[in-house]
Formats: sequence, structure tokens, C-alpha cells
Amino acid sequence: MEVIRSSDNDELMALCGGCCSCATCHVYIDDAYVDLLPVLSEDESDLLDSSSHRRANSRLSCQIHIAPELEGMAVSIAPED
Ligand code: FES
Repeated sequence: MEVIRSSDNDELMALCGGCCSCATCHVYIDDAYVDLLPVLSEDESDLLDSSSHRRANSRLSCQIHIAPELEGMAVSIAPED
């Protein structure tokens, strides 16, 4: 989430600032990287369930910690609910 916000992209609202309580940082993960991410927490999954745009590769970007194995990962910002 911080990486996206620090770019020129202003589409990601991330209203709660990364507290996992808003789901406005919803993104779609490049399929090649989905299995490299940590397992969804129950809180993150519950928030994603509140989105009508949830997909199998949905994640909350504020819950993804950048790691070397994620280099090159592409994400796209989910539509607003
Ligand atoms: S910024 Fe609110 S859940 Fe990610």
C-alpha cells in the first residue's frame, strides 16, 4: 500500500492508513505471485468479503509486506465499491 501511495498513482484511497479496517486498498495480485504472499488473515478475508469486486487474487495491499521474492509483482487497483 505504501509503495502504491508513494507512486504517482492517486487511485488508492487506503483510508484507514493500513489498520486493516477499511478495504479501500483492495488490489488484484498478478497470478504468478499469489502463492508467494502470506495466507489471508480472517480479518483481511472478512473485509474483502464486503467488496462486490472480490476475486480469487484479491488482497488488501496494506497487508502485503514487500519482500525480495515479490520483486516484479504487478498489481491492479480494484474498483471502488
Ligand atoms: S488501508 Fe484500510 S484496509 Fe488497507
